[in-house]
Amino acid sequence: MASLADQAIRWQEDRLVLLDQRALPNKVLFVECTQASEVVAAIRDMVVRGAPAIGVSAAYAVVLAAREQYAVAPEDWIRRMDTDLQSLAQARPTAVNLEWAIARMRDVMARTGPGDPGPVLLQAACKLHQEDVQANRALGAHGASLLEDGAVVLTHCNAGALATGGYGTALGVIRSAHAQHKIKAVYADETRPWFQGTRLTAWELLQDNIPVTLICDSAAASLMRQRQLAWVIVGADRVARNGDVANKIGTYALAVMARQHDAGFMVAAPTSTIDLKVSSGTEIEIEERSQQELTQYHEVALAPAEAGVWNPVFDITPAGLVTALVTEKGVVHAPCEEKIMALMKD
Ligand code: MRU
Repeated sequence: MASLADQAIRWQEDRLVLLDQRALPNKVLFVECTQASEVVAAIRDMVVRGAPAIGVSAAYAVVLAAREQYAVAPEDWIRRMDTDLQSLAQARPTAVNLEWAIARMRDVMARTGPGDPGPVLLQAACKLHQEDVQANRALGAHGASLLEDGAVVLTHCNAGALATGGYGTALGVIRSAHAQHKIKAVYADETRPWFQGTRLTAWELLQDNIPVTLICDSAAASLMRQRQLAWVIVGADRVARNGDVANKIGTYALAVMARQHDAGFMVAAPTSTIDLKVSSGTEIEIEERSQQELTQYHEVALAPAEAGVWNPVFDITPAGLVTALVTEKGVVHAPCEEKIMALMKD
């Protein structure tokens, strides 16, 4: 039986049902979307988050948008979807999987014949969803093969089943290595300011009976120094052609620390996260979110009202700090443009 985290995105009868990640771990709530605009809001407000999960949800949103527009104008539904697809693409800017999924669904839209496009588009969205899970299982196995027995690992943010169509990327590697009894300890950092590590990764690993130890973000360097950390394992929101990686804020700091402490730095991501249109990390838009993510926790104020705030929620890790980029197509050691182009050609 699939875990709850593996069913965080579900199509049920005529609607998209999303596990509300804002409420975890205290409450298990679901948000039901019957309109594309509701999926846009769910992505923007972090009901669903994580690059591949955003992409999968967007694919289902295209189904909802097509249904709405076809009902109003059966002859003109594709053109009428432009506005829906634009607001979907803009819901969050950094994860490439969002535009990747929309582009894939646009291809299917262009190929639908006359009549209701709903069934064909739903089939395409389900396929994209299943392919993401398969990719994660494959990359999980590739990543696990890099770990020695008794590995101590640290992960950042939540790159698990919750953040994908299922199984997870960084947590897919950890799940796979744990099943092979290779892992001695998993550390998760809290991942300020949204606490994806504390709230989501800890919850998800424990659902799978994988013991986890939380640390605050600033304990990472001490952990590396004192506990012989073998690997930092993270996901990605966008990987540039040269191997630079956009991921949750704090990833870059971990990569610098890993280099200092001779730990490996593994980026686990499906090839749908690689953006060949972007030559390096400097071209990637970094999302900035509300200052309230730092100044308050729920309704409780944490900072003086006058304090200024800068809240970029992703950063860029230069390719030179990445030991291995792990995809469903295989592992790219010390990624660079040449190796990434070769991987994507296969
Ligand atoms: O802001 P979030 O929670 O959407 O950020 C998520 C991350 O940074 C993940 O590491 C990334 O999307 C990969 S998820 C498999």
